[in-house]
Amino acid sequence: MSDQMFKVTIDNKTIEVPPGTTILNAARMIGPEVAPPAMCYYSKLKESGGKCRTCLVEVSKGSEKDPRPMPKLVASCRTTVMDGMEVKNFTSPKVVEARKGIVEMLLINHPLDCPVCDQAGECHLQDLSYEHGTEETRYDFNRRTFEKEDLGPYVQLHMNRCILCYRCVFTANQLTGKREHGVLERGDHAEISTLLGKSLESEFIGNIIDVCPVGALTDKTFRFKNRVWFTKPVDAHRDCPTCSGKARLWMRGEEVFRVTARKDQWGEVEDWICNTCRFEKKETKDWVVEGPSEISRASVISQGHYAGNVGTEKPQVFIDKIIGKQPKLLLDIHSISDVNKKGVTLSKIDGPAHSDDFGLKNK
Ligand code: SF4
Ligand code: FES
Repeated sequence: MSDQMFKVTIDNKTIEVPPGTTILNAARMIGPEVAPPAMCYYSKLKESGGKCRTCLVEVSKGSEKDPRPMPKLVASCRTTVMDGMEVKNFTSPKVVEARKGIVEMLLINHPLDCPVCDQAGECHLQDLSYEHGTEETRYDFNRRTFEKEDLGPYVQLHMNRCILCYRCVFTANQLTGKREHGVLERGDHAEISTLLGKSLESEFIGNIIDVCPVGALTDKTFRFKNRVWFTKPVDAHRDCPTCSGKARLWMRGEEVFRVTARKDQWGEVEDWICNTCRFEKKETKDWVVEGPSEISRASVISQGHYAGNVGTEKPQVFIDKIIGKQPKLLLDIHSISDVNKKGVTLSKIDGPAHSDDFGLKNK
């Protein structure tokens, strides 16, 4: 029985997986073309998932033994596969419709902060709205608002943007082994908070910034310093006594603007990094640079993102019809940003101006 595998078909693609695998993970094993979006599930965190409902799918056949469909859409991150199960994700009109509603609900209290938000360009909610949302909101009421709050020396909380996915809570608890912060109140009043404004200072607390799918938790050493699509990500390592020392540097010229953990194709951290690597090591001499990072999803710096994924199309351009000729493009982010190409010499790519150009670095 132990080596028995379950056959599951998702969007007409079949795979065999071990019993106990969730539909979401089975879909990820097939590939991004069938994998549902996930705003709260995080494979590296125990007990995550079940909060946001973005991963809803239709089970059109329960199993080989009991082929009845499941009566309602189910959260794929919390539902395990059965042998012979058939699942519809992008091929289900019900799922596509329901996901529009979920996006609308997640955006009910979320401000339109993208123009000033540090997460813009790598925000999972931005991607989700672009790929699955509608163009308008039916919500007329005022959004709930909170003051910005410092959660210690490194992290600032913008509660207005939080979608209450609980990832930061699980990350802090599971990396430090004790309760660091949590969600206070319930329903519309729910908010992330530390106990009586306690500072979050554990050596690994910076990782809560990386797991946040939106811009609710910001890096105080990077806030407002740059836009992510102007920086060049490179993988680098250092000999760190606290963590693996494997990180990603976000650079402009020789300047390290930000240090983050490396993320996999699902946008999840591969190796947790410590605060020293993340917040204190902002010089190139601190690091051994390995080469350009491969960004496979969830960022405008990944080429062709808007044209490449399931359910998305590159937006149509009409300007040539209006002006009667092809426009001269000043910047086409899809073709200009070639930082992800293997073998590219980063120092040879022209970048936008950075503080060196203005002589501000040493002021
Ligand atoms: S702050 Fe970010 S990670 Fe934490 S619950 Fe809110 S959205 Fe999720
Ligand atoms: S990812 Fe499944 S409910 Fe959030």
